[in-house]
Amino acid sequence: MDKFYITTPIYYVNSSAHIGHAYTNIACDCAARFNRINGKDVFFLTGTDEHGEKIKKAAQAQGKDPLSFVDAVSANFLNLWKILDISYDDFIRTTQQRHKNVVRKILIDLYDKGDIYKSQYKGFYCMPCESFWTETQVKEAGGCPECKRDVEEIVEENFFFKLSKYEQWLKDYLKENPDFIKPKTRYNEVIGFLENNKLEDLCITRPKQRVSWGIEFPLDNNYVVYVWFDALINYISAIGFGQGDKFDKIWPADVHMMAKDIIRHHAIFWPIMLKACGISLPKLVFAHGWWKIDEEKMSKSLGNIVNPIELGNEFGIDALRYFLMREIPLGVDGNFSRSSLIQRINSDLANDLGNLVFRVLNMADKYFQADINSIENKDIPNEFSSFVDSQFNDQYIYHMQALEFSCALEKIWSFISVMNKYIEDTKPWNLKKEGKIEELKHFIWSLIQGIRIVAVYIYPFMPQISRKILKNRLNCDDVWQSLVDSKNREGSVLKWACSWLPNGFLAEYKTDKKTPLFPRIDVS
Ligand code: MSP
Repeated sequence: MDKFYITTPIYYVNSSAHIGHAYTNIACDCAARFNRINGKDVFFLTGTDEHGEKIKKAAQAQGKDPLSFVDAVSANFLNLWKILDISYDDFIRTTQQRHKNVVRKILIDLYDKGDIYKSQYKGFYCMPCESFWTETQVKEAGGCPECKRDVEEIVEENFFFKLSKYEQWLKDYLKENPDFIKPKTRYNEVIGFLENNKLEDLCITRPKQRVSWGIEFPLDNNYVVYVWFDALINYISAIGFGQGDKFDKIWPADVHMMAKDIIRHHAIFWPIMLKACGISLPKLVFAHGWWKIDEEKMSKSLGNIVNPIELGNEFGIDALRYFLMREIPLGVDGNFSRSSLIQRINSDLANDLGNLVFRVLNMADKYFQADINSIENKDIPNEFSSFVDSQFNDQYIYHMQALEFSCALEKIWSFISVMNKYIEDTKPWNLKKEGKIEELKHFIWSLIQGIRIVAVYIYPFMPQISRKILKNRLNCDDVWQSLVDSKNREGSVLKWACSWLPNGFLAEYKTDKKTPLFPRIDVS
């Protein structure tokens, strides 16, 4: 079976998770769930980045020692992922021994190869961003180029990693592999950066007297490892680098997902670290955009964060997942507002999908509850034909593989619109009046088939709603099971579950209308 390895960034534990973090993990979850039902052996990794002075300070501010502080905050992330239905396979914490061992091994390796050396470092340091800057950068920005705060001038002995030695190699690699970084704008940004800047060697240690909360540098115990060098290694430590089988089966990553703020770490430092260690490169580094509030990036320091748990409680987790994946294409920025969330819920979910399911199940109940399955004409209505063929299936797969989630959803919603229009145009109440019972039955049965197909396509985005439709509303337990068991199955279940007459399909439709899937949100 083909494998698919996808990673999220590992999140800092100095602040609580917000909708921006949730966005990355939901996007990765959609990709992971899609690939599972499409027959891949998926490994989905997330985790927390737990070292560095910022984190120690945050612990101190709460009167805690760093370890109990990071234990508590990483537990919050785990809890959030559970609430948001994130189907990760492993959760790595940089304070875990399995991670520290690999970081040490890599450093010793690189030292032995001559890629690490000791030298004097002069620079301007920004404590909150944990970044060093050159004098010119600080002058141009009037402070830290990232957060604009004041910086501190520092001169100290440190260890360096020879990034510059690999500069030409990286340039050549990127030229030859234009699909390594996506979207294109980010690829161009990285290429532009490399053309306009000479790569400086990377300072990869911090003296313990200044930064104590970190992995001890294996070559000199007066130092700890720079957090970014430590953090990037999570992608290989989590899957057992250096221990054989598991690593060889899973690596290289198929997608490293993150927001654009950390593209350079992933597209410059990380490939060079891997190259220097003789490890193959990930297939794709994908940087999505930022969720902003009033055109400002959402962040704890700006005090404009939106809490995903509160939103989920208010509107439902699947509605939130849908909104985030549908509202903006992965890769561009979006402005978050409650009103656009409510608008999406009311129009796409309550009106289009929710109403369709409710109306069809009502009609099925009213006219034929008992013999909805005793249908003779099983033809696809003409109106549906371009939505239940293999071309449609292929297009859906194409968009999902390309991480074009909003396009995939648009396609599904075009089928939903067609089904709603089919109801308007057919006027089933007239068929009933005119005694065209076979036609009426075919009409309702076809809509139920269509709803089953839609419920499969939306599974990566809205797993709970997909379950409610398939199991609780339509009695299609076998289709639902095929989705959740896809981990243990050979091959894709997608084509089967989305075909008009799935071979070996067991369900006898037993419709149950229950309550609406999505209550309308009152905006008055
Ligand atoms: N610890 C580093 C990552 C190390 S990966 C080896 C880090 N952590 S972070 O907590 O700051 O998380 C940054 C990531 O959170 C972004 O790359 C993105 O995935 C997500 N987001 C944080 N704010 C966001 C928005 N406002 N909008 C979209 N994504 C956001 O950087």
